[in-house]
Parts: sequence; C-alpha cells; structure tokens
Amino acid sequence: HIIPVILSGGSGSRLWPVSRSSFPKQFWPLLGDRTLLQDTARRGADLQLAAPIVVCNQEHRFVIAEQLREVGINDARIVLEPVGRNSAAAIAAAALLVAETDPSAILWVMAADAAISRPENLPSALSTAVAAANKGYIVTFGMTPSKAETGYGYIELGQEFSDLPGVYAVSSFVEKPNHARAAEMRDSGRHLWNSGMFVFAAKTMLDELKRYEPTILQAVGHAVANRTADADFQRLDSVSFATSPDISIDYAIAERTQHAAVVPADFGWSDIGSWDALWELSPKDADGNATKGDVFLDRSRNCYVRSDGIVAAVAGMDDAIVVVTQDAVLVAHRDRAQDVKHLVARLSEAG
Ligand code: GDD
Ligand code: MG
Repeated sequence: HIIPVILSGGSGSRLWPVSRSSFPKQFWPLLGDRTLLQDTARRGADLQLAAPIVVCNQEHRFVIAEQLREVGINDARIVLEPVGRNSAAAIAAAALLVAETDPSAILWVMAADAAISRPENLPSALSTAVAAANKGYIVTFGMTPSKAETGYGYIELGQEFSDLPGVYAVSSFVEKPNHARAAEMRDSGRHLWNSGMFVFAAKTMLDELKRYEPTILQAVGHAVANRTADADFQRLDSVSFATSPDISIDYAIAERTQHAAVVPADFGWSDIGSWDALWELSPKDADGNATKGDVFLDRSRNCYVRSDGIVAAVAGMDDAIVVVTQDAVLVAHRDRAQDVKHLVARLSEAG
C-alpha cells in the first residue's frame, strides 16, 4: 500500500514574477502543458498507487482540487494548513492521517514543484525504496551532484545493505552546507544530493518524530485529531497546528535519524529552483535560446525569454533572463538567477 504525499507549501520566489505567493510555481505549466503539481500527481496515478494526499496552505485548496481534477484525479485527500509550519509538520500530518487506518502503509513524499525528465527510471527506484521502507528505513533518493549547490541536502553513501540490493546506509546527511563544504562533497565521489523525496512507513516516521521532535508530533497530533472535514478538504485545527515548531524534515529528522537509507537513482530530477534551471531544462533553438509566448530575439544567445500576453523583443543580449507578465518584468543575467529571491524580498519590504 503506497500513498503518494505531495507537499505544496513553498512560494518559489526565485521564479518571480510568474511565481507569486498567491499562485506559486507549482501551479504553472513551466515546462510542458501540465503544471508541476499535475505532473507530480500523475506520477503516482500512472503507477496505479493509492489516492494521493496533498498537504497545502488552505488558500490554495480550490486551485489544487481543480488542477487535480483536470488530470483525472478526483479522490485526493487535500489537507489544509492554517499557517505554514514547514515540511516536518506537513509530513507529520500526513503520517498521522495514514496511521489512523494503516500504520504500516508506505508514504512516498514528493515536492509539488520538482521536475523529472526520465520518469521511466522511477518505478524501479521506487520499488527498491519501498522494500527498504518496509524494513523500517526512511529512504531518500540520491542524485549525482553536478555543482557545489548550497541549497540542497547532501547524503554521504555508506555500505550497500546485503539484504536490500540497491539500498545503501547513510553515513551522514548534511542539509544546506556552506560553499566550501558543498564543493568538497561535490568532488568526493561519496556524496549524493537529496532529491527531497522520502519513502517510509507511517509508523517509522511517527516513531522518529516522537524521539527527535515530540513537540511537533504533539502539536500536529492535536491538529489532526481536531480536524474538520468538508467536501474534499481536511482542515487541520488552527490553534494547535500553529504551536508546532517551524523546521524542515531535513533538519528535524533526516540529519538525525539512525534509520536513514538511500537509493542512488537517475531519473533526471531537477527542483527548478531558478529561471536558469528552467533554461537548462527547456528545449532551445540553434542559438541556445529558450522562449515561450510572443517573443522575438535578434543576435542573442543562451537567453531565457518568456512573455505572457505582451510582445517581448530582445536584441544583442547573451545569457539574459527576460520574463514579462501582465504586471511585472524581470531582466536578469543568468548568473544572477539565484538573486531574484533577494529582489523579491526587497520588493515586498517596499510594499
Ligand atoms: N505543505 C507544506 N507546508 N509544504 C511545505 C512547507 C509547508 O509549510 N514548507 C515546505 N514545503 C514543501 C515545499 O513546497 C517543497 O515541496 C518541499 O516541502 C521542500 O521544501 P523547500 O522549502 O523547497 O526545501 P528546500 O528546497 O530548501 O530543501 C529541500 O529540498 C531539496 C531538493 O529540492 C531539502 O529536502 C533538501 O535536502 C533537498 O536537497
Ligand atoms: Mg526547494
């Protein structure tokens, strides 16, 4: 029994001005015709897994229900958070809900906003992970690092388990290292990136939360027990949920647990963290330009240009990002794609 759990809590500020907190990146068709949320939800449905659980901010409930219906998913349980308390609390809520009926059910936690370009490699990685989850492990998928990314978690590979082929012990888990440490780990040959997907039995996660984050378990436990249900939605009790500590699953559990395991995998994972990452993933013309919408380029190379409803023309630019929406325009160098987040922070301070 494998239950996909989709976390839809981030605001994706590095993909401003398309991604906004009211309508973040997972709700946009950034790559193909489907939105990232729809692609994520179809992954479980295509493998004929159980109905998914989506954990999200209550303000997004109608968008999510609508987008799931558009791709033929009508049976999702949509769990509404009154406020964001980070991924540990969101995962605790899903594990508690599942454990009400089947504590040994396996949860497959996924971010709503990642892309997978080689989905054909997913089923075997997943079934390898499920075998380990059935034995009490919290399983991650390890991706070969290609740069000294400081925004990811790094998994140090231990020994392969003799009874679980393809599954390795985790010697250490380092969430968001500094640049020097990240560069070391990229070059070590022993470290993999954490894709942010987790596979575990509901009861394993609840045991670990009890050991390392009892306050989260208690707060979210009350919020789940006192939830109200209407139509498709499960509303967590707001008073108790708000008392949960705000910490990610990576710091709360992944860095600490003695039951971590990793499945090295190659399914073309990308977290689409920035416009530059989207440029890398998009089809490009002979000059290396990726475009979407009414866009014209002249003597420009390796640009990402996207426009929504307005004509955008770009001349003589290399490595530029130009994103035009109805009410905002972003122009940035591709090397500075990460800094869009800081721009957005300044914009919201300025009101
Ligand atoms: N429902 C809900 N509520 N979801 C949340 C919340 C929340 O309060 N906070 C975060 N999430 C979801 C995000 O929407 C995303 O799908 C996922 O949890 C991970 O959160 P991020 O904020 O994107 O984490 P990160 O990118 O800094 O780091 C994580 O992902 C990396 C890969 O993309 C870590 O797991 C890293 O170790 C990993 O390498
Ligand atoms: Mg992320």
